[in-house]
Amino acid sequence: MKPFKIRDIEISPPLVLSPMAGVTDVPFRALLKRRGGIGLTVSEFISVEGLTRNNPKSKRQMRFHEYERPFAVQIFGGQPGRMAMAAEMAEDVGADILDVNCGCPAPKVVKHGGGSGLLRDLPRLETILKEIKKAISIPLTVKIRAGFYDSHRNAVEVARLAEACGAEHIALHGRTKEQAYKGLADWDLVRQVKEVVSVPVSGSGDVVNIEGAFKRWRETNCDGILIGRGAMANPWIFRQIEDTLEGREPFQPTLEEKREVLVEYFDLLRADMPEFAAIGRMKQLAGQFTKGLHGGARFRQVIYHSHSVTEVLDRIGEYFETVAAGRPYLGEGGPDPEEEAPVLDSCEAAAI
Ligand SMILES: Cc1cc2nc3c(=O)[nH]c(=O)nc-3n(C[C@H](O)[C@H](O)[C@H](O)COP(=O)(O)O)c2cc1C
Repeated sequence: MKPFKIRDIEISPPLVLSPMAGVTDVPFRALLKRRGGIGLTVSEFISVEGLTRNNPKSKRQMRFHEYERPFAVQIFGGQPGRMAMAAEMAEDVGADILDVNCGCPAPKVVKHGGGSGLLRDLPRLETILKEIKKAISIPLTVKIRAGFYDSHRNAVEVARLAEACGAEHIALHGRTKEQAYKGLADWDLVRQVKEVVSVPVSGSGDVVNIEGAFKRWRETNCDGILIGRGAMANPWIFRQIEDTLEGREPFQPTLEEKREVLVEYFDLLRADMPEFAAIGRMKQLAGQFTKGLHGGARFRQVIYHSHSVTEVLDRIGEYFETVAAGRPYLGEGGPDPEEEAPVLDSCEAAAI
């Protein structure tokens, strides 16, 4: 695994924080970028309808920190004119790369021809990519799925088309739209795409540890690896892979560092959004982040039922103190841990 370039932009290390609607916003990306090992950050997918109609939420989604560079804005939509306008807006705010979402399976997105809908309407995809190409001078990239239908996995055809239209990087999540998030991603398709195009190709899907990243890279010869859900569960995953790449022992966070990352995330969220929204987001990450830790299921429930900033902070403090002391965490008064907190698992929840 070695750095690669999208035109003249070096992606080093060749690891990408995969875009996740409702997750990879400014606070989350800051939290992760500070931990190191990320070669490219990407915004959440942003609605071109929202952007081109001056929707404040969509415009806020284009914000980024200078230290995140290289930074890509990802847009979704089905109307070529609006896609091109939105792409221009992304270039104007200083994005290094413009990425087109061709993978979101959410019905609201697909219905309007966007996201994975583009995989079954290649003439529309072609027009969109050509229009965008005319409108911007920064590199255009695409993130695709294996195909729309399980019975017609056309990623190779789509990748060829995207390259012909001027896309300079192809990221492939090896599940179809019909699969949504079920089953496993097909990395052999990543290998096949890599064989037929000359632009860099990155793979996405189910990489949750160092071994998985190296295995996928060896099997497919891909240029880059995207990690999404694995980074929610382990914010150090990129650094650990980078450490291994550079011949160091992979960083292992202490319990104290795990506590700090939760508190830091909560601080970042509160600086960026109203308290109730920050608490909501916190519930998501706390849930992902404590998977596999002692008493994690109980802790997730307790956080899930916390309603104020103090309560969240107190519960985090209690939990980590208890685990550090080697005592079982019972989360007094919390509901039954069998009743798991819901986990956001697609772009659907955030689709406009
Ligand atoms: C909550 C969530 C939101 C997502 N939102 C987006 C998105 O906005 N744009 C996109 O291209 N992919 C999105 N994805 C797909 C991921 O980027 C990634 O391709 C997929 O989750 C497989 O990789 P993973 O197993 O590393 O998570 C999302 C996935 C999740 C779980």
